[in-house]
Amino acid sequence: LGAVFVCANVVTMLRIGHLELPVPVIQGALSGFSDLPMRRVARAFGCVYTMNEVILDELVVLPGKIQQQILHVPEDDHPIAGQLLGSQPDMFAAAAVRMVEAGYDVIDLNFGCPVKKTVGRCRGGYLLSEPRTALEIVSRVRDALPPHVPLTLKMRRGIDDSERAVHAFHEIFDGALARGVAAICVHARTVQQKYVGPARRAFFPSVVERLRSSGKPTQLLASGDVFEVSDAVELLGMGVHGVWVGRGAIGSPWVFRDIAHKLHTGHDHALPTFTEQRRAVWMHHRECVALYGVELGGRIFRSAAIRYADAHPRADEVRTRLFGCKTHQDLHDTLRLYWDDGHAEDHFGPVLPRQSYVRLVAAGAC
Ligand SMILES: Cc1cc2nc3c(=O)[nH]c(=O)nc-3n(C[C@H](O)[C@H](O)[C@H](O)COP(=O)(O)O)c2cc1C
Repeated sequence: LGAVFVCANVVTMLRIGHLELPVPVIQGALSGFSDLPMRRVARAFGCVYTMNEVILDELVVLPGKIQQQILHVPEDDHPIAGQLLGSQPDMFAAAAVRMVEAGYDVIDLNFGCPVKKTVGRCRGGYLLSEPRTALEIVSRVRDALPPHVPLTLKMRRGIDDSERAVHAFHEIFDGALARGVAAICVHARTVQQKYVGPARRAFFPSVVERLRSSGKPTQLLASGDVFEVSDAVELLGMGVHGVWVGRGAIGSPWVFRDIAHKLHTGHDHALPTFTEQRRAVWMHHRECVALYGVELGGRIFRSAAIRYADAHPRADEVRTRLFGCKTHQDLHDTLRLYWDDGHAEDHFGPVLPRQSYVRLVAAGAC
């Protein structure tokens, strides 16, 4: 695959180790969302690389139901990275090996989770304050994995805004490059910041420069507030190799297709039609029920489903209806009422452009 350039300096493919992805955009890990149903819907709309919801290393190693679930990788769910959380280098390494044996194509280490319980147990974002332990984890996992399996890293721009945090970030970043990680994703918020306030995009040019001057082939991915096609284009224009889509993909799987279209043709893709939206909602529900069973699947579906309402001209009404769907028949009726082929547009008007709602979603307003 050759790199194609449509916008100045914007690369339209991504290489993670031996994997050549035709679009430099991935579905990032999202606990509570990026399960198999969400991943399958994303792939149906052009997503080329996905990740599991982060999993605690010991749950991968300990026999049990969770282990069985996480170690089941269906044939159509590739390429996929398995993301791990933990605090002990040995446990990380053991879990990484099990995940690769089960079929994960890439192992990703989570050094960014800001959840209080996680940080309190010296995991996730906490590791950004402990460069030695973080790099010991990178070394042990890299050594334990077969050489052809790429190892990647997810970090935030620091644990907080202190000078010390900046040094720790650089130490871990440089150390990971030296240890041969295939890619590093940086979420441009601090751990302390959690999700409050905008991601600091201005942080990326210096990281791009740092990587460039290292001469290492590691790829840099950017994360933070990627809600619209223009967000991805802006970040790629700063010289990062790829973009990690987080919340912007919830209930909006067409974001992958839209970004790819822009990068490959220079043009905007048409808005998702009512028919396409209905297809995505239906598929998501079907996958949830198939994986978790009717009751649990229905509940898990509802938390993701309410985001599908965003693009509908009657978003509030549709959200309430979707949230209230308890049975297959309820969903069927709701889809017929609000997304009926041919009639929906006459009835409700055109679907809403992303710009009209994504910033509210970003701010947590709906
Ligand atoms: C509900 C939720 C769950 C998340 N779970 C994970 C996770 O399991 N692993 C991870 O690396 N990041 C996780 N993240 C962070 C996102 O993947 C992403 O890096 C972050 O939200 C910034 O991107 P965004 O502003 O475009 O959403 C999560 C974020 C949210 C909001």
